[in-house]
Amino acid sequence: MPLPLPGIYLPVNEQSDTSKICVVMVGLPARGKSLIAGKAMRYLGWVGIPARVFNVGNYRRSNTPQPQATFFDPHNEEGERMRRAAAQAAMTDMLQWFKKDQGVVSILDATNSTKERRKWIAQECAAAGIETLFVESICDDEDLITNNILEVKTTSPDYKGQDPELAVSDFRKRIGNYQKVYETIGEDEKSYPYVKLINVGSTVIINQIKDYLSSRLVYYIQNLHIKPRSIWLSRHGESQYNLTGRIGGDSSISERGEAYARALPELMRKSGIPENTKIVIWTSTLRRTIQTARHLKADTGFEKLEWKALDELDSGVCDGLTYQEISEQYPEDFKARDDDKYNYRYRGGESYRDVVIRLEPIIMELERSENVIIVTHQAVLRCIYAYFMNIPQENSPWMEVPLHTLIKLTPGAYGTDEKRFKADIPAVSTWRGKGTSATHQEFPAGGH
Ligand code: ATP
Ligand code: F6P
Repeated sequence: MPLPLPGIYLPVNEQSDTSKICVVMVGLPARGKSLIAGKAMRYLGWVGIPARVFNVGNYRRSNTPQPQATFFDPHNEEGERMRRAAAQAAMTDMLQWFKKDQGVVSILDATNSTKERRKWIAQECAAAGIETLFVESICDDEDLITNNILEVKTTSPDYKGQDPELAVSDFRKRIGNYQKVYETIGEDEKSYPYVKLINVGSTVIINQIKDYLSSRLVYYIQNLHIKPRSIWLSRHGESQYNLTGRIGGDSSISERGEAYARALPELMRKSGIPENTKIVIWTSTLRRTIQTARHLKADTGFEKLEWKALDELDSGVCDGLTYQEISEQYPEDFKARDDDKYNYRYRGGESYRDVVIRLEPIIMELERSENVIIVTHQAVLRCIYAYFMNIPQENSPWMEVPLHTLIKLTPGAYGTDEKRFKADIPAVSTWRGKGTSATHQEFPAGGH
């Protein structure tokens, strides 16, 4: 019998304070500001906080799409005027966004390299009741800067269609022009909350961070690194519950699931592991993931860690039922889940939103880590995948993540590369489309 109280939705706003924050990026060109801004926006969106980047370069490009380095010379009056106008236009749109669209965190992505510019931003924000958080990226590692220019600047719209060598040399002159006036955040700016990241977070200086949201953001930003690495994601091998179409539980893997567990080390090798690389395996505390990872052995470079936070979405009173049984025993719940799968919370269990909240420490740790393989469950994997691939909340709970398939994600400067490797081992499909109570069906080797 259905329980009388629906008790289905949880409050959407999980913030613990009501502050609006403008994150102000500071630093010379090619110091990773846009990368940090983009990642922070993705992270905030994933935890459900409305966030948006205002990139002053994009505003400037509408008038001056492909400027030469002289445009950025502080003695170029016309250039100065146009750059100020671009900053002003970004500020106007940003304040509008806070006011009209209920924005919570904006990220003002520009060099903001003088004290005068920062004072203006702080004053404009204060007048609109918005807190500021300055994030300065300082980097004096010449090789890294050269690499940054080659990696992202020669392909930037500012240089599209131009000779890459000339682009590099012009970009270096542009940096030189900024250096003429650049002032690092100084002693006289101690009243601002700020964080300084020196050489990609090898040294971090934090000043006056008080509210909860800012400290979460600072913690996130200070953990970012740019060492090349990959993250592998896999569901556990097919389980006994998968075979009978039951959700949740703590069943063991099936015979075919065991075949997948045995195939996993080779699948990992096939996916490409850089030589002499240590890989850490994260599993949940449930049997099916531990069994699936058991053939990835320490003597071949694997290290294991179990996380309770990686356990499958808790389906509360529906644990152990099939979708068909849920639709019969809890028809209202079944419909409510289809109507808003992300926010629907099982009676006595969890919603996808709840899972994202408990996964936050996992994401923080993943940002700090290098090569990791995560062996986990359908719903949890969807949430982690959504973080890396920027999948909106309406879609993430419906994504197909087949069994017996290894996903390799390789984060890059402005996006994540994805490759999938299917094991040639058949498994049922546990995917259910909206409005159906599909039983788990048989799918041929390699999933569907
Ligand atoms: P611009 O002012 O021209 O927009 P930017 O500071 O926004 O430049 P990005 O476009 O973000 O620079 O540069 C991205 C490059 O910076 C990538 O190659 C990335 O690996 C690297 N990078 C990321 N974080 C940092 C950091 N903290 N310090 C230095 N480089 C970084
Ligand atoms: O069926 C496998 C499973 O991992 C269940 O244990 C879990 O309840 C379900 O998938 C999550 O998927 P969905 O949110 O689509 O029901």
